[in-house]
Amino acid sequence: MLSPIGSELKKKITNKTAKVSVIGLGYVGLPLAVEIAKAGFSTVGIDVNKEKVDKIKSKNSYIPDVAQEELARAVSKKKLMATTDYEILTEVDIVSICVPTPLRKTREPDISYIIAAASEVSKYLHQGQLIILESTTFPGTTKDIILPELEKKGLKVGKDFFLSFSPERVDPGNKKYTIRNTPKVVGGVTPECAEITKIFYQQIVEKLVLVASTEEAEMTKLLENIFRSVNIALANELTLMCDRLGIDIWNVIEAATTKPFGFMPFYPGPGLGGHCIPVDPIYLSWKAKTYGFYSKFIEFAEEVNRNMPYYVVRKITDALNTHKKCINGSKILILGVAYKENVGDARESPALDIIEILSQQGAEIIYNDPYVSQVKIGERKWQSLSLTKNLLSQADCVVITTGHNSYDYKWIVENTNLVVDTRNATKNLLDKEKIVKI
Ligand SMILES: NC(=O)c1ccc[n+]([C@@H]2O[C@H](COP(=O)([O-])OP(=O)(O)OC[C@H]3O[C@@H](n4cnc5c(N)ncnc54)[C@H](O)[C@@H]3O)[C@@H](O)[C@H]2O)c1
Repeated sequence: MLSPIGSELKKKITNKTAKVSVIGLGYVGLPLAVEIAKAGFSTVGIDVNKEKVDKIKSKNSYIPDVAQEELARAVSKKKLMATTDYEILTEVDIVSICVPTPLRKTREPDISYIIAAASEVSKYLHQGQLIILESTTFPGTTKDIILPELEKKGLKVGKDFFLSFSPERVDPGNKKYTIRNTPKVVGGVTPECAEITKIFYQQIVEKLVLVASTEEAEMTKLLENIFRSVNIALANELTLMCDRLGIDIWNVIEAATTKPFGFMPFYPGPGLGGHCIPVDPIYLSWKAKTYGFYSKFIEFAEEVNRNMPYYVVRKITDALNTHKKCINGSKILILGVAYKENVGDARESPALDIIEILSQQGAEIIYNDPYVSQVKIGERKWQSLSLTKNLLSQADCVVITTGHNSYDYKWIVENTNLVVDTRNATKNLLDKEKIVKI
């Protein structure tokens, strides 16, 4: 049974007259805002970055997963608007918060963006509003940090407004699983908060999964990402071991994957990247430490994964050595600086660590990435160069750091002297003579 304000909001949701706002229009927020607008809700995106807001107003998508035409259609139909001004929230019924949750330099959680957004939402909070936090964060954030901020003005959760946590599970670049067909987990501060959030997301997502609390929902997202981090670390550690034993780990993983039950493949690589897998586990281990609990799995996985760029550099050193060359003075062409294939996001990318280590050791670094036109490490900037026969032949070593589908690996290997492949991207090539795999 819903309360009168709950029933009122439900009515607005089901007849699509509810106004929705998405705060933070990045990799998570913009696709979500477009999906909500496509479902028929009048949606307004709020971002502190005026450039992004202006791009949306001029119907330009800046996120590869958001098709230009879809964004343009939503804006033209006036279903999607964008602003830097939080005051619009006075007219809004449902607010979804998708701001960043990075780490501080000290590698502790930085939830200042969440607090800043919550404090703005709090200024305009009114009866019957539903607030949903989507940003990945440690258990307790919604109840212990957002809730007191929202209740400052005297409104009470469950009675005057609703508050939930529902983690975003978007996988950038994934064409099969989208917002619509990826089940969405919801935990409410009260059962009615969860119910109302479920009713809202049912308009956009095919399957909803209710959990008992906001803490369970926060922890679910962290478990998913820690599962990946730990299993990738296992694949990475076994890679180092197999290197010593003279066994090809890639063949081993392929063979193990033929088992129809009880095995799921994870692959080694040059290290972890992106906003989620390298960052989120630390949110949990930090929180656990405040309870005197030390997570060995999380910390060990981080150590193994963070050492992978150094292992790749060692492989490059060994490969150059076979050509009587050393890193100092060699021209090294990095192929792919995005943290994973077919995306334009270079945040936390291991390719950047590899570039930095090689540069410090005196290599001349050049790079190509069809999705990332420039990168900056400290004060130094690199521009992506066109991938030509000439560029390939100039390089003393080509390092495949990201396995973009658009690369023609046969052509790349044919036109260069030495390739270090960190992604097994060259697995189908017959002539392996020039190739060193990690
Ligand atoms: N990128 C992913 O693949 C992914 C997947 C699942 C979950 N997440 C989580 O979702 C959250 C957002 O990640 P993202 O990748 O979209 O980040 P992002 O950096 O791409 O986007 C965040 C946006 O929030 C804006 N912003 C910052 N502070 C703001 C404020 N106070 N008010 C309004 N706007 C503000 C920024 O300008 C930026 O446009 C993070 O918690 C992340 O861990 C990310």
